[in-house]
Formats: sequence, C-alpha cells, structure tokens
Amino acid sequence: MTEEIVKSALSKVLYPGFTKDIVTFGFVNSIVIDGDNVSFNVEITSSAPEVALQIKDDAITELKAVGAGNVSANIISPKMPKESSSKGKNIAPQVKNFLMVSSGKGGVGKSTTSVNIAIALAAQGKKVGLLDADIYGPNIPRMMGIDDIKPEVNGNKVLPIKAYGIEVMSMGSLMEPGQSLIWRGAMIMKAIEQFLRDILWSELDVLVIDMPPGTGDAQLTLAQSVPVTAGLTVTTPQGVSLDDSRRSLDMFRKLHIPIAGIIENMSGFIAPDTGVEYDIFGKGTTQPMADEFNTKIIAEIPIESSIRIGGDDGKPITFVAPSSESAKRYMAAAESIWATIEEINANGGVDNQAVQPTTAPGVSACSTPKPAPKASDESCGTGCGCH
Ligand SMILES: Nc1ncnc2c1ncn2[C@@H]1O[C@H](COP(=O)(O)OP(=O)(O)OP(=O)(O)O)[C@@H](O)[C@H]1O
Ligand SMILES: [Mg+2]
Repeated sequence: MTEEIVKSALSKVLYPGFTKDIVTFGFVNSIVIDGDNVSFNVEITSSAPEVALQIKDDAITELKAVGAGNVSANIISPKMPKESSSKGKNIAPQVKNFLMVSSGKGGVGKSTTSVNIAIALAAQGKKVGLLDADIYGPNIPRMMGIDDIKPEVNGNKVLPIKAYGIEVMSMGSLMEPGQSLIWRGAMIMKAIEQFLRDILWSELDVLVIDMPPGTGDAQLTLAQSVPVTAGLTVTTPQGVSLDDSRRSLDMFRKLHIPIAGIIENMSGFIAPDTGVEYDIFGKGTTQPMADEFNTKIIAEIPIESSIRIGGDDGKPITFVAPSSESAKRYMAAAESIWATIEEINANGGVDNQAVQPTTAPGVSACSTPKPAPKASDESCGTGCGCH
C-alpha cells in the first residue's frame, strides 16, 4: 500500500451533496501506512453526524477495494453550534442570529446600512454573513465590490462569496448584469427560502439581511422561515420617510421581531471641502417615533459623499476609512445591536411559532375560504397579512 494508492482511492469519495471529492477539497491529511493497514484524518466543515458517517463508510469501501487491511478513518467535524435559545421554524440552523434591516420607504439607505453594519460587526470579531434579500433590486454586489464575481456552485448548493471578511449572497450574483426579474410574489418567497436553505453559509454569529423596501412577501417569508433575532429600521428625517418607517416598526411588532433600534440616515450633510455640517432634511425628528415604539436611535449618519462613493465603488466606508466620523458611528451602532442581540438571547431568544401559517394552503385567513390557487397565482397561501 502506498500513499498514492490511498489518495487515489479516497479521491473517489465525494463530499455528500457535492460533485467534488474529499481529496480535491483538501480535507484528507495525516495518512499513515503500515503494511496493508491505513489510517488518516478527514477534516470536514459540516457538523452533521450523517455527513461524517457517509464519508467514513465510503472511504473504507474504496480502500478495501484496493486491498487495504485495517482502515482507520478519523473524521474530524467542527463542534455542533451552540444551541440557540430561539425557537420555532429555522431553515438555516447553522446561523445563530438573524438581523433584518428594513425600512418603509425605498432609497433611504438600507443597503448602505446593511453593508456597513455587517462590516462593523465583523471588525468586532463576529462571524458575519450578508444576505441581499432585495430580489428585484439587488445592490449588495456592487456595494461590496463583488459585482463581477460569480459564486461557486456545487451540486444544488451555492457557496457564498467572501468579501471584506464576510460571506455574501445576492440575486445579483446569480444573474447576468442588467437583467431584470419579473416575478410573482410566490417566486420571491421561494427565492428567500432558497437563500437561507441552499446557500452554504458557515456557522455564523449573525446573518445581516438587507430587505427590499416595504412590508411584503419577502419580510413575511423571512420571519416565517427563521427566527429573526432583531430588526433594524433605517429612516431619513423627513416626515414622509418617518410615516413609512412607522409601518416598518409596526411590522416588526406584528411579526414578533424585537427592535434593535433605528438608524437615522442622511441626518445632516457634511460638506467635503469645509467639514461643516448642514441640516438638510431636518434632524432629530426621529426621536418621537423611537419613543412611540419603545426603542432608540442607535446612529445618526450624515450625508457624506464618501459614503455614496464607497457604495458605488464597492469600498464601504467602515472598511476603507474606519477613522471617519460615519464609520465610527456605524461601529457604535453595531456594538449597540450586538448588545441587544445578546440581551434577547439571554432572555430566552425569539420564537416565530406565532407567525407560522395557520390556515390550510390556498385558504386565505383574511376572507372566506376560496378555491385553491393555481401554482401561478399570486396568493402566498399563508393567510398572514400577505394580501
Ligand atoms: N449617509 C449617506 N451619505 C451619502 N450617500 C448615501 C448615504 N446613505 C445612502 N447613500 C446613497 O444613497 C443611495 C441609496 O442608498 P441605498 O441603496 O443604501 O438605499 P436603500 O434603502 O437600500 O434603497 P432601496 O430601497 O432601493 O433598496 C445610494 O447611492 C447610497 O450610496
Ligand atoms: Mg437597497
């Protein structure tokens, strides 16, 4: 028996769910050969016992087939993630916490906030993922500087793209640039579920989720699919934005999502030449709304051209200019969010049982029973405020 024969036999062992084998993945090491007896380690990335078992069985079978005697396959898996205190349905159980970034109005800075908060959390030592749940208008790839990178697809799973120390996935990374999606609500819901279930997210401390504007199918599907640990609302100080933000906060309430706070974005303008701060949209108008929902403003982020340039060029301000005033404010907001998440978990976590669909498929909770919708029907069939 030689190391070459052993490696060639083990290269027939596919990693479960993938088209690649365990040798190509680089998981096999410490091969020791003693006559016909072989021992080796396989360091895998999954903590699921069935994955370890299948690799072990397949490895022994392949080695026996090339004449090995005793085979000792030591499968080293990462420890099971700490049990989250959250309850209810969770289709991405390897993720410990989910942060939903929402706003009632479009264009107020959700994506910018999601990117910078995700980077700030990673800078504070957390293992962070960033999911762009804006299926129709995915901006995260550009903002993270990965718009020309396609993710690696393995079997029916997709690996997230890594950028600035965080894992990222977006519909924009799966589509050709400039293409539009013309989808019904039911397809949006399916896409959100697949982003949670079929992306190979690592064991993350937190997945930051950039939502489309408003309170619709995407928000409801997310809340029903995973226990969302906390919600963050982004608003600008104008009255019209605040009106919509109230709806976003009310949605968190209705979906039983604890509120991690409000970010008042475009709060004042810092002139790039003089550094003087001007009040454009009116500042401080958000406080009464925070009081109304028993939450707090965790950052006031000024309009700064470097934030917009950072977004357009894929160079987020919190990463490229961490000593700037805005980056410091994002860092402070991230600390506050993490403190809230820890507090929520210490108090028993969240539970999404109450927002699960309760009616039979095809029956609306809002009205009298009606015939089951066709597959192409826009109704989500959950009966939970989706109509
Ligand atoms: N504080 C800021 N200073 C300067 N530009 C900003 C600031 N916040 C956001 N922007 C810019 O405003 C534009 C809209 O921001 P962004 O895309 O983050 O909003 P959004 O709420 O995610 O929008 P949508 O509802 O379309 O998803 C972007 O070009 C972004 O770079
Ligand atoms: Mg956006």
